[in-house]
Amino acid sequence: MSELLKDKIERLRVEAQNLHANTAEEVEALRQKYLSKKGDVSLLFDDFKALTKEQKAQWGASVNQLKQQFESQIKQMREQMESKVQTVAYKEDLTRTPDSIGLGARHPLSLVREQIITIFSRIGFTVADGPEVEDDKHVFGMLNFAPEHPARDMQDTFFVEKQEGVQKPTDILLRTHTSSVQTRALTDWAKALNNDPANAPQSLRILCPGRVFRNEAISARAHCFFHQVEGLYVDKNVSFADLRQALLYFAKEMFGPDTQIRLRPSYFPFTEPSAEMDISCDLCGGKGCAFCKGTGWVEILGCGMVDPNVLESCGIDSKVYSGYAFGMGVERIANLKYRVKDLRLFSENDVRFLEQFESC
Ligand code: DAH
Repeated sequence: MSELLKDKIERLRVEAQNLHANTAEEVEALRQKYLSKKGDVSLLFDDFKALTKEQKAQWGASVNQLKQQFESQIKQMREQMESKVQTVAYKEDLTRTPDSIGLGARHPLSLVREQIITIFSRIGFTVADGPEVEDDKHVFGMLNFAPEHPARDMQDTFFVEKQEGVQKPTDILLRTHTSSVQTRALTDWAKALNNDPANAPQSLRILCPGRVFRNEAISARAHCFFHQVEGLYVDKNVSFADLRQALLYFAKEMFGPDTQIRLRPSYFPFTEPSAEMDISCDLCGGKGCAFCKGTGWVEILGCGMVDPNVLESCGIDSKVYSGYAFGMGVERIANLKYRVKDLRLFSENDVRFLEQFESC
C-alpha cells in the first residue's frame, strides 16, 4: 500500500513540475484534474486515510506538500493568464481618435424645405404651424370656398369618420393644403390687433411648411400625401409688385442667379388676382426640351393677392390691410433640383435612394 502511494506521489510530483496551460480554460481543466473532489491529489488523501498510524507519519508531509505544490502552481498560472488578458486589452491605443460613426443622410424633402425656409427667413418670414387634421372652416370656408363652390372639387378631400355621439357627418378632415394655416395665423393676429393694437405686430409674414393629404391613386406622379410650403404677407399697402419681387428673389436663390420667372393668370378662391409661376427650365436654359415639354418653362407654384373676403373672414380690415400669398409643393421643387422621376421614392425610405443626398 505504502509502495503504491509512494509511486503515485512520485508520478504526481513529476506532473506538478511539468504543468502547462495556454488559456484560463486549460488552467481550470488542470485544477479539476488534480484538485477537485475526484481529482488525482484528492484521491491520494483517500489512500492516505487507509494507512496505519506509522505510515501516516511517514507520508503525511509528502502528500500535503504535493497538494500545496499543485495549489501554488495553479494559482500562479491563473494569475499569469489574468495579466495576459489585461496586456491584450491595453495593446489598443487608447489615445487614438475614434472611428467616425457612419451618419445618415438628410431626407431630400427636409433639405429642400430647410432651404426654402432659409431663403425666405432672410426677407423676414418666420415659420408658423397648424394642425394636419383640420376642420372644413379653416381649409375651405374661411378661404372663400363657397359651400357649393366647384373649386372644392379641385381637391379630393379625406374626411375623418363621423364620431360616436356627434351629429351629422363630421366636418373634420385631413388638410388638403397648407393654406389652412393662413386662416389660423390671420385670426390670431386679428385678435392681437383688437386686444392690444399698440403692442400687436403691425404685419404678418409667415411661412407654413407641412404635410397635406389628397385622395389620389398612388403613382409615379401622384401620392395621397405630399408636402407644401405656404407663404403669407399681410401689411398696409402690399402690392402685386412686392409679391413678384419676393418670388423672383426666391427663384434665383433656389435655382441659380440666371433663373427667370413668369406669372400666368390663374384662379384660386383665396386670392384675387391669382397667378401661377413658372421658372425658366434650367435643363435647356429656356430653349425648350423634353423636361419642359418644349416650352422652356416649368411651373413651380401658385400665388396671388389675398382675397379681401379671406381677410374679412379672419377679422382683418381689408380696407386697411392687403397681402400676398403663395403655395408650393416641396416634392415639385425637390424634383426640379434632383430630377427624381418617381414621387413614391420620397416616402419609401429606401436607403439606396436616401444615402445619395447630403449627409448630416
Ligand atoms: N393652396 C394651393 C394648392 O394647394 C396652392 C396655393 C395657390 C397657395 C395660390 C396660395 C396661393 O397661397 O396664393 O393648390
